[in-house]
Amino acid sequence: MTDKTSILLGVNIDHVATLRQARGVTYPEPLAAARIAMHSGADSITVHLREDRRHIQEYDVFAIRALEKTPLNLEMAATPEMTDFAVRVQPHYCCIVPEKREELTTEGGLDVQGSGQYLESVCQRLRDAGIKVSLFIDPREEQVEAACRVGANSIELHTGHYANATSSAEKESELARIRQGVLFGQQSGLQVNAGHGLNYDNVAAVAAMSGISELNIGHAIVARAVMTGMHEAVQSMKTIMLESRS
Ligand code: PXP
Repeated sequence: MTDKTSILLGVNIDHVATLRQARGVTYPEPLAAARIAMHSGADSITVHLREDRRHIQEYDVFAIRALEKTPLNLEMAATPEMTDFAVRVQPHYCCIVPEKREELTTEGGLDVQGSGQYLESVCQRLRDAGIKVSLFIDPREEQVEAACRVGANSIELHTGHYANATSSAEKESELARIRQGVLFGQQSGLQVNAGHGLNYDNVAAVAAMSGISELNIGHAIVARAVMTGMHEAVQSMKTIMLESRS
């Protein structure tokens, strides 16, 4: 876990692969983006290997896993195929997310509470392989408790509702929900991360919550990198996050 003045940035590079897959060529390379991100202040790299392989491919995951001093967080659905893959790749962390084929991006948190024995067996298998398990959940007490019950090491609180809020009252109420979620997570002894929909304008309010260890941010960083380069995009995001703690 991080101290109160520090916060980690996990950079999700899925959309570098989206750009490559759009043309079916070999560039831009997610591996190169991961290297630059790590040299620019990222603390880890996140990739989501989706069932439909719309962006990240299996070879990307292996290539990034082989990078030195680069903690890899593999986002995945809790399917037998993905669990087998994770055990082969041995990422440092696996974040289990719900996945629907037709969605544009991960739409909601995992229903850990309603998931039964199966999710627990996936967590157990990953943990037995030496992989730390995180569950992407909505900031609700019952989900945090369930995450603890199934043996997660950490939770990633879904910040998408905050990011999508249109009025300041709605934003404030979503922030209050996230704050509560952080508290529940801390009380359960879990590491608390957060992410989804965070960008250069909305990140500070979440980064300022001292119980959060790490933020996972993808789309906004890759979108900015198209304009300014990966180095500037990562560095600026990390600066905003750290300044919100001082
Ligand atoms: N966290 C999780 C669990 C996600 O599924 C995603 C999207 O892949 C992110 C964080 C990053 O979200 P965004 O691309 O909106 O920053």
